[in-house]
Amino acid sequence: MPVLFKKAPGKIILFGEHAVVYGQPAIAIPVTRVNATVRIFPNLDSDQADIRLQAPDIGIDADLESLPSDHPLETAIRLTMGELQLDRIPPLTLQLTSTIPLSAGMGSSAATAVAIIRALSAYLGKPLPPDVVSALAYEVEKIHHGNPSGIDNNVIAYQQPVYYKREHAIEFLTIEKPTHWLIADTGETTPTLETVSAVQKLLTNDPVGYGDIIQKIGSIVQTARSALIAGDLPGLGQLLDENQRLLEELEVSSTKLDILINAARNAGAAGAKLSGGGRGGNMIALVTEENISAVESALIEAGAKRTITTLLTPREDR
Ligand code: PMV
Repeated sequence: MPVLFKKAPGKIILFGEHAVVYGQPAIAIPVTRVNATVRIFPNLDSDQADIRLQAPDIGIDADLESLPSDHPLETAIRLTMGELQLDRIPPLTLQLTSTIPLSAGMGSSAATAVAIIRALSAYLGKPLPPDVVSALAYEVEKIHHGNPSGIDNNVIAYQQPVYYKREHAIEFLTIEKPTHWLIADTGETTPTLETVSAVQKLLTNDPVGYGDIIQKIGSIVQTARSALIAGDLPGLGQLLDENQRLLEELEVSSTKLDILINAARNAGAAGAKLSGGGRGGNMIALVTEENISAVESALIEAGAKRTITTLLTPREDR
């Protein structure tokens, strides 16, 4: 039996991906249907190395020292020990499992880091608060993404809907009316680093033209903020579709994403767009209790590999 386990949820960006890298706001929500889980067991056999790391989903069963020093899991552990000012800790096994799809725009890397930091600090008797967990997870995110905006580590560490803007205090959204969201996976994956670099290249070549698109996405997010709080379905639907059109101009959509987005719209979704880095990964659709089954069937028929429903509710309902 583990002596301790901690979870961290997945996340989905509703509005503003890519533009958020350049200082525009973005909105993201936690997705608690999927999560990363870390279990910690003491290693009572003192011959064992200090930390044994087991991550069966990605084929890791190794002593911490044998991992490269820039390995994300190693980094999450080392940063936590550094934050707690510990050089050595009692021998332990840290076991990581996750139901969050990899490289699919659902925050798998940030959730893994958050779960490790939460579990290890709690196991060592010094649980770290969400702001510190988020800051440490951001450092791990840099290994994956190079120049991450910081939205993933924040929405996951705080487990609340966020309106996020780089270098600004994080704003938690107090939802007044629930909305239903359907997430569908294309089954294709493109590393976020690749799509972020592609957008960066477009901006370097045409700073005015693409800068304008980035700004327009920022304006959509500002309008979406109050529409989301109020649960304004037609307003949100239109904003999702506009955001998707601008993401297409940034060349981060894909044929499979376009097929799923159109299938959702045709089956009655109020609006739909890609979510996360793009060129594969997941799309989201805004649905209702009445049409959720029809939209889900249409997405599966159109080739979605997996669907996840998530209900965004006022805080007291969560
Ligand atoms: O693909 P994800 O879930 O890691 O999201 C990437 C979101 C971007 O805005 C494209 C990058 C970022 O760092 O915010």
